[in-house]
Amino acid sequence: EKGGYDHFMLKEIYEQARSIRDCLRGRIYPAQGKIQLGGLQEYKEKLKMVDRIIIVACGTSWHAGLVGEYLIEEYGRVPVEVEYASEFRYRNPIITHKDIVIAISQSGETADTMAALEIAKERGATIFGICNVVGASIPRITDAGAYTHAGPEIGVASTKAFTAQVTVLTLIAFYIAQQRGTISQSKLIEFLTELDSIPALVERTLQCNNRVEEIAARFKDSNNCLFLGRGSSFPVALEGALKLKEISYVHAEGYPAAEMKHGPIALIDADMPVIFIATKNSSYEKVVSNIQEVKARGGRVIAIVTEGDTEVRDMAEYVIEIPQTDDAFVPLLATIPLQFLSYHIALMRGCNVDQPRNLAKSVTVE
Ligand code: M6R
Repeated sequence: EKGGYDHFMLKEIYEQARSIRDCLRGRIYPAQGKIQLGGLQEYKEKLKMVDRIIIVACGTSWHAGLVGEYLIEEYGRVPVEVEYASEFRYRNPIITHKDIVIAISQSGETADTMAALEIAKERGATIFGICNVVGASIPRITDAGAYTHAGPEIGVASTKAFTAQVTVLTLIAFYIAQQRGTISQSKLIEFLTELDSIPALVERTLQCNNRVEEIAARFKDSNNCLFLGRGSSFPVALEGALKLKEISYVHAEGYPAAEMKHGPIALIDADMPVIFIATKNSSYEKVVSNIQEVKARGGRVIAIVTEGDTEVRDMAEYVIEIPQTDDAFVPLLATIPLQFLSYHIALMRGCNVDQPRNLAKSVTVE
């Protein structure tokens, strides 16, 4: 059942080239610049006119929501708010019939996410779902939605479900952009062509496993860890930190790299591994200067970089290379080494990778 892998988590990490391909199947036609999202078709006009989108979710799905915020705002130019479902439901949120509320949930059963959607529905919003489990409670109450098609996820740590959620959000962002005319058809064709090649790039990224395992061996005894990124790599940093916390029981925090100097920089010393997402994209130079700040304080830097990078290689103690891709798709690749890192550290520390203590796969109580 684990397909020859020692753990479901490892199997599910390796499935990501296939799961993203399944998620894209029948939904993109790059040569024609066409995106087909069956469920959203009826809401084309609504998406064209909408003033605000609110995303509600918990845990890893909330991180996917944050990536979605970057994508939808950048390409579709619609303001997006991303909320923890548990906070949203109890703070008398301001919602009107003009809003679209999107719930993201792997299981489709998370109690807080479900309750947040019910409130949004009561107040007249249009509600969408991005779920993995077909026919679960959330997809049953939503007006429309898109399944992630990642296949069953057994490991408690969400891996392939996260990248599939981000894939769906990428499709939604470009779909909105097309409806609203915030992207040119030629640019859309370029993006969809690149998106079509992502499963192959994921395949290549998965080759970093041995390298990550070596790095994990060096840092397995650290009791703290910082993950830093900017732009859409900030939610990737949050996700890396959550993975490490939940399966390795190592205290980890994710931060936007520039926030470091507002507090967390005080934590940096020779025992603090700092993992940077430092790929070659729009925030590269800024991240490079954040790496210098950490180095100057004796921190130990591990960086995820774009293949062929030399500048960060010279500064970091360890680098992990991932293939070059457009800014829009970096989260889909940069997440993978962080999944491997938490997997190996957990294993080396003797933790139960697939069923970490105190956690359940779906949180059906509030
Ligand atoms: O099924 P959901 O996506 O609604 O679950 C949300 C969270 O409980 C879930 O992502 C949790 O944080 C995972 N264990 C993270 O790996």
